[in-house]
Amino acid sequence: MSTAFSFFLFITLLTCLFGLTLGNTEIINFKSIHVYDRNGSCQLRIPDTVSQSLILQPYPIDPEKGISESASRVALHACGLKENTWYQLRASWPAVYPSEIDLAWNGTHALVRLYASFYSVDDSLMNHPPPVPIQIDLEPLTLGFLPSSLKPIVAVIAVIIISSIPFAFLILRKQKLD
Ligand SMILES: *[C@@H]1O[C@H](CO)[C@@H](O)[C@H](O)[C@H]1NC(C)=O
Ligand SMILES: *[C@@H]1O[C@H](CO)[C@@H](O)[C@H](O)[C@H]1NC(C)=O
Repeated sequence: MSTAFSFFLFITLLTCLFGLTLGNTEIINFKSIHVYDRNGSCQLRIPDTVSQSLILQPYPIDPEKGISESASRVALHACGLKENTWYQLRASWPAVYPSEIDLAWNGTHALVRLYASFYSVDDSLMNHPPPVPIQIDLEPLTLGFLPSSLKPIVAVIAVIIISSIPFAFLILRKQKLD
């Protein structure tokens, strides 16, 4: 029973963990190969700046397709990246701004493309979608897959699993004795 319970707990925590990354979040992982430009203006600097907030004005929405006719673009120069290192780039925005966001990495810049995506009978809303506040995060991936900010959560899950093992054995032994 304890095993089942710890398994249940594990799945619950895992779901929470994925919950953090689902919803209005777009994520890409990339490996920085060469570091071209270490100076110049930087919008994303590792490790000082973890977050960058921006507001993008979407293009008018095509009433047939329910999505902006073209993409609003912004390029953020990233500095302080190490060569041959994995990074995770995330864009997050509030659910009240229904949008599609594409992320890409071109070797020096994080490229953000935004489309507003909704239907409304209100023509002026379709022609002038409200500006979308977006938060951009860039962080190194530990072991090539684990974002630094998730490390504490993973540690908690590990502690729960490890600490539930003795209970599992106790229960199993009790069942055998019964
Ligand atoms: C970049 O900045 C560093 C320190 O701020 C300096 O030592 C270096 O010469 C600069 N490189 C270029 C190409 O300007
Ligand atoms: C990445 O995109 C930015 C902005 O469009 C551009 O200035 C930069 O030269 C590009 N970098 C590479 C390596 O193509």
